Amino acid sequence: MKTLIEFINEKQADFPYATGEFTRLLNDIGIAAKIVNREVNKAGLANILGYEGNTNIQGEDQKKLDVFANKEFTKALKHGGQCAAIISEEDEEVVIFDNETSKKGKYIIAIDPLDGSSNIEVNVSIGTVFAIYRRRDHHESVHNEDLLRPGVDLAAAGYVIYGSSTMLVYSTGNGVNGFTLDPSVGLFILSHPEMKLPEDGAIYSINEAYYNNFPEGIKRYMKYCQEEDPATNRPYKTRYIGSLVADFHRNLIRGGIYIYPGTTKNPAGKLRLLYECNPVAYLAEHAGGKASDGFKRTLEIQPNDIHQRTPLFVGSKKMVEKAEEFMRKYSKDFPDEYL
Ligand code: AHG
Ligand code: MN
Ligand code: MN
Repeated sequence: MKTLIEFINEKQADFPYATGEFTRLLNDIGIAAKIVNREVNKAGLANILGYEGNTNIQGEDQKKLDVFANKEFTKALKHGGQCAAIISEEDEEVVIFDNETSKKGKYIIAIDPLDGSSNIEVNVSIGTVFAIYRRRDHHESVHNEDLLRPGVDLAAAGYVIYGSSTMLVYSTGNGVNGFTLDPSVGLFILSHPEMKLPEDGAIYSINEAYYNNFPEGIKRYMKYCQEEDPATNRPYKTRYIGSLVADFHRNLIRGGIYIYPGTTKNPAGKLRLLYECNPVAYLAEHAGGKASDGFKRTLEIQPNDIHQRTPLFVGSKKMVEKAEEFMRKYSKDFPDEYL
């Protein structure tokens, strides 16, 4: 049995900036995840359900657990002192820490503290997604070049899934490893070493309700997925949970593709580049999969806003490539024609 912390300490040697600070940072994330996990697990019992009464920057209702998770991660990262600033789905502006230790923190985190929040009340898996950047110069105050960086600059990324068990999956660019929380001792234990995304799969995950507004390439790709062809395992199965973390996690293990495309109504789609798309794209690539916006690699998109959205195609390499082929063939001008 190997715990998360034992594992990170062992792997420090492979990490280019092995100072122990990264270990502490990930430990802080693990602590906040355990606190959020405790609340998620009693969501039906505690007086924690329902809306907080605020709307976030996206104009969406914030659930109480969204707010709780945001506070817990922010608190843990601030007190940990390794992280100088947080970009959170729940905060309009970047939160720059002003305590002495954090000011010099070497890292910046982009986080979706609670992903899939519409699934809280119905006991369906939800998650936390995070992306970790190493600052260019931690003696300076935090500036834009630290914040608006493409995913290729990531030092690490991961997610926590609060599912039938709670897992933390992360990568520092050297393989993807999964740890399951043993609730009896409160420790994350290495349960899924060296996770590999199957090169091909037979599951597609997309919200079909938006069909009429999908680009032609997506409509045709969906029909392709539904065609009978035993040689290629078609028709594929549809699985759509509505929590990116849970849909991605299943596809990571089983093989599959998750698509949240741009639509004629929302050409940039729904998902946020910095704290939803980049972390899963990073994990997909380091597990042998692929992620793009239908045309170009997600990790190479240069952000110009911390909350910007982008279409997402992520999962088994061959499936993503096939979907891209349909996009190039039938929707090469998307989304420009709708912007
Ligand atoms: P969040 O709960 O952080 O707002 O994210 C929800 C996201 C993502 O997890 C999920 O896959 C997607 O929204 C579902 O959107 P639709 O209901 O439009 O399919
Ligand atoms: Mn989300
Ligand atoms: Mn969220």
